[in-house]
Amino acid sequence: MLSAGVAVFILTGALLAVQRLASAPLPISYPIVLVIKVGLGVWMFVLARRAGTNASIGALRVPIPWQLAGIGVVIYGLAIALRAIYEDAIRA
Ligand code: HEM
Repeated sequence: MLSAGVAVFILTGALLAVQRLASAPLPISYPIVLVIKVGLGVWMFVLARRAGTNASIGALRVPIPWQLAGIGVVIYGLAIALRAIYEDAIRA
C-alpha cells in the first residue's frame, strides 16, 4: 500500500502535469525536467519505503534519511524550474 502522503504527491503531480501539458505549447525542456523530477520522486519513494521496512538494519538507518532529504531538496529545485519554464511559456 502507498502511504497517504505519497498518494497525494502522485495524484496532485499527475493533475498538475495534465493541466500544464494541455494548457499551452511548452518548450521541450519542460517534459525533460518533468521526467527527471518524477524519476527522482519515485526513487525517493522507493528509498523511503526501504528505510521504513529495513529500519532495524543499522547500516541503512543513517545514510538513507540524508539521501532522502537531498533528493527532496533537488525535487523542490526542479519544481521551481518547471514553474519558471511554464510561466515563461504562457507569458510569451
Ligand atoms: C512522483 C510524482 C510527482 C509528479 C507526477 C509531480 C509533478 C509535478 C508537476 C507537473 C508540477 C507542476 C510544475 C509547474 O509547471 O509549475 C509539480 C509541481 C511541484 N511539485 Fe511535483 N510531482 C511529483 C512529486 C513531487 C514530490 C515528491 C515533491 C516534493 C518533494 C514535489 C514537489 C512539488 C512542488 C513544490 C511543486 C510546485 C507547485 C507549485 O509551484 O504550484 N513533487 N509537480
